[in-house]
Amino acid sequence: MFPAEIDVPPLTYLDQLGTIFTRFGTQDSGNISYGVQADGARYFVKTAGDPTDSRPYVDFDGRVALLRTAAELARSVTHHTMPGLHTVVESPAGPLLVYEWRDGDLLGEPAARERFQALPTEEILAALHALYELHAALDAAGWVEGDFYDGAMLYDFDARRLTVMDLDTYHRGPYRNTMGRMFGSSRFMAPEEHALGAPIDSRTTAYVMARTALVLLPEPPPALHAVLLEATTTRFPSYQAFYEAWLTASSTTADNLTNRST
Ligand SMILES: Nc1ncnc2c1ncn2[C@@H]1O[C@H](COP(=O)(O)OP(=O)(O)O)[C@@H](O)[C@H]1O
Ligand SMILES: [Mg+2]
Repeated sequence: MFPAEIDVPPLTYLDQLGTIFTRFGTQDSGNISYGVQADGARYFVKTAGDPTDSRPYVDFDGRVALLRTAAELARSVTHHTMPGLHTVVESPAGPLLVYEWRDGDLLGEPAARERFQALPTEEILAALHALYELHAALDAAGWVEGDFYDGAMLYDFDARRLTVMDLDTYHRGPYRNTMGRMFGSSRFMAPEEHALGAPIDSRTTAYVMARTALVLLPEPPPALHAVLLEATTTRFPSYQAFYEAWLTASSTTADNLTNRST
């Protein structure tokens, strides 16, 4: 249904393809994305925006490069939390990444985040479990965290389903901090993301994922809290080590919850 290439601007093509029911273009990324309904299906179509728009911090070539990374990431790992990438359409304004559409509220929005934080602990833990399982798969494929924050998560409160998107700034393999204070939300960032020249690797992924739980889960059960504190103070040597400690603490917690109720 999707051509490999188009010779008109993305908007012209998408208008012909179906109905554009929403547009995302106010984020400082410079990217422009569309919700498109065509042949009874909904798609999330992401583009690098206007090639002549040089206002964003990342210029057009940089934005295209990030979308190429996003496509590589989506093709290397499939997980139920990540919208599937149907295809990539080449255009005069760079690639169109055609993803599966996902419903949900953006956890970067204060109202949605507060609603999420007020859910029962078990439901929050289920979403965190999905997030951590996804990162175990990403980590195994060599992906290292970059600029992850709550604005990269959608939560469908009816279906109780977490969607993780916008991982365009992840890196395949360890890298170095070349910026000093890197892009990101300071509530989630690891110390090395503030230190010029510091290595960024799977330990960073572990730290940021632990911060995510500390932000989203106001009162973690004690065994889990201990893992989160370790991940953000003395640190774990790898994402895998953090993930295993989390899983072990989760089973203890589940036993405790069961014992309490019997
Ligand atoms: N697969 C998807 N389905 C539905 N909405 C999505 C999907 N992916 C992203 N979004 C929404 O589109 C917004 C912009 O997408 P995002 O990938 O964050 O682009 P940007 O690079 O501009 O930050 C997100 O904040 C989210 O609300
Ligand atoms: Mg975004």
